Amino acid sequence: MASTPADRHDTDADGTSVGRRSFLRWVSGVGAAISGVLVGIPVVRSFVSPVLIKPVATGWIKVADDTALLDVGAPVRVDFVKEQSDAWIESIAQNSVWLYSDDGEKFKAYNPRCTHLGCAYFYDKDTKTFGCPCHRGQFDVKTGAVLGGPPPRPLDELPVEVRDGVVFVQYKEFRLGIPERREA
Ligand code: FES
Repeated sequence: MASTPADRHDTDADGTSVGRRSFLRWVSGVGAAISGVLVGIPVVRSFVSPVLIKPVATGWIKVADDTALLDVGAPVRVDFVKEQSDAWIESIAQNSVWLYSDDGEKFKAYNPRCTHLGCAYFYDKDTKTFGCPCHRGQFDVKTGAVLGGPPPRPLDELPVEVRDGVVFVQYKEFRLGIPERREA
C-alpha cells in the first residue's frame, strides 16, 4: 500500500519512527542528567570542609560507671571504644586511659601512650611507678613526671570530670617525642 504524506513525515529512510526516536533521545538525556547528579554528589562533598560534614563531637567519654569500683592509691587502665569520623568515613577504635585517685573523689587521667615514641606503658606494682617497656622510660603515678629514661616530657594528662559517681574523660592525642605538649 502506498504511504500517505503524513506517514512519510513520521518515518526516516531506515524506517525508524521519528516520534519514537525523539522519545528515546529524551529518555537517554534524562538518564544522563540523573547520572551526572548522582556522580556529582561525592565530588561536591569532597570540596566542602569536613568540619561542616562531621558531627560536632565534645570528646567527653564515659570511662567508669562507678568511682566506688575503682582502686584508690593505685592506677587502673580503663579500655573503651571510641567512635570517630573522618570526613564521611565513620569508624570505631579501641582505646584506653589510665585513671588514678588518692581519695576516690578527685581523679587524674593520662593518655596511655608514652611521650617518647608512643609505646603503651604499664603499672609496676613493685616500684609503684609507670614503666615503659620500649626504652625503659619511667613516670610518677601521681603527677606523670618523668623519673627516668628518654621520654622528653611528663605523661599527657587529660581533662577528667566526675558527675554523680560516673567518670568522664576528654580523650585527646598528642605529638610524641617533643618536650612541649601539643595536640596531634
Ligand atoms: S617509647 Fe617509652 S621510653 Fe621510648
